[in-house]
Order: sequence, then C-alpha cells, then structure tokens
Amino acid sequence: MTTEFPNLHVLDHPLIQHKLSHMRDKGTSTRTFRTLLREIALLMGYEVTRNLPLENRRIETPMQAMDAPVLQGKKVAIVPILRAGNGMADGLMELMPGARVGHIGLVRDPETHKPSEYLVKLPEAASRTFILVDPMLATGHSAVHAVDVLNRHGVPDENILFLALVTVPEGMRTFNAKHPNVQVYVASLDERLDDHAYILPGLGDAGDRLFGTK
Ligand code: URA
Repeated sequence: MTTEFPNLHVLDHPLIQHKLSHMRDKGTSTRTFRTLLREIALLMGYEVTRNLPLENRRIETPMQAMDAPVLQGKKVAIVPILRAGNGMADGLMELMPGARVGHIGLVRDPETHKPSEYLVKLPEAASRTFILVDPMLATGHSAVHAVDVLNRHGVPDENILFLALVTVPEGMRTFNAKHPNVQVYVASLDERLDDHAYILPGLGDAGDRLFGTK
C-alpha cells in the first residue's frame, strides 16, 4: 500500500517480481511472454482473493463430521478487458475453475486516448465479487470505463477488484478520482507515461507481445 494510493496493493512476492522482469525484457518471445502472463496472474490471483468471505459447511470426513470453511456466496466473476486481459484471465481461471467469465472490449482512440466499448458480456451481478483484469493500468481511462460498465450492470465498487501488472501514478490518480473504493492489485508501480500514453519503463504493448501482433 502507498500513502498516496491507499487502495493500491503492490504485490512484491519474489516469484511475481522475477516473472515480471522477464516479461519486461524485449528479448522475451511471444510464447514465453504468454506463459509468464498466465503464471503471474495465477500467483497474483492468490493474493487478490485473500479476503474472499468464507462460510462453514457441514461435511463428513472419513473420520468424523466437521464444519469446514468454503467460499461464501456466488461464484467469483473474472472479467478481462480485451484483448490483453485475456492473457491474465487464463491464469485466474486455472486458480478458480468454477468462476464465471465476462468480457469487456474497449478500443483506445489514438488521438484522445479515450476508450469506447465494442463488446460487453457479463454474468449476473447478484452479490458476486468481480475481478477486472488488464495488464496495463496506464492512463486509467480504460480502467475507469470498465468499472463504469460494471456499475451500470449493478455491481457496486465495493464488489470489484482490479488486477493489473503495471500502473503509474498518473493512471492511479485518474482511476481514484472516480473509483477510490475499488482495490487495485499490481506487480509494479512504474515511473510515468510517455507522450503516447505508454508506461515507462513498462513492457511495451501488452496485447502485441501476448498475441505476436504489431
Ligand atoms: N497499454 C500497453 O499495452 N502498454 C502500455 O505501456 C500502455 C498501455
């Protein structure tokens, strides 16, 4: 947690940091980048889900009956912001095979850097926890827009967790101006944005590196 951003959690586990450094390296192949993104999301997912509520369920072990803790409420929803979010969703789905999966497709206008949506497909809101995933929380505009979409769908900020790999102070300020109660989990708070809204030092275009496009 940083003092400026009380809702930002930088996950400094050595395995997460090690994998992120390999992902940043421009010599890392598409194949390795994809594997690392899935693995790092799985490790981060472990921390992100740390406070999910539990309830006791009566079960019988081969030895005796007991009240055993199980996850309370509806299945978690994982919602990748397309397209780079898909690479992280894969890791989270491995961790939570029963999770529901939604999709939010956003495109960024190259001039204004503002997002607009081309696809929204979501599971029922109910009292479910929604984990939004996008590797790069850069300007913060896509992240704000995606949370707005979930709010319109009936999901309050308190039920939303945002999982990214890297963010920057500018992006967090924009995000927190609108959604300070959404908890944000990242592997690194990087330095700043460049003139084209890319993160420095960052890792380049996450979607291109994940899918091998240019
Ligand atoms: N999106 C990316 O893929 N990379 C950045 O650095 C910023 C936004």
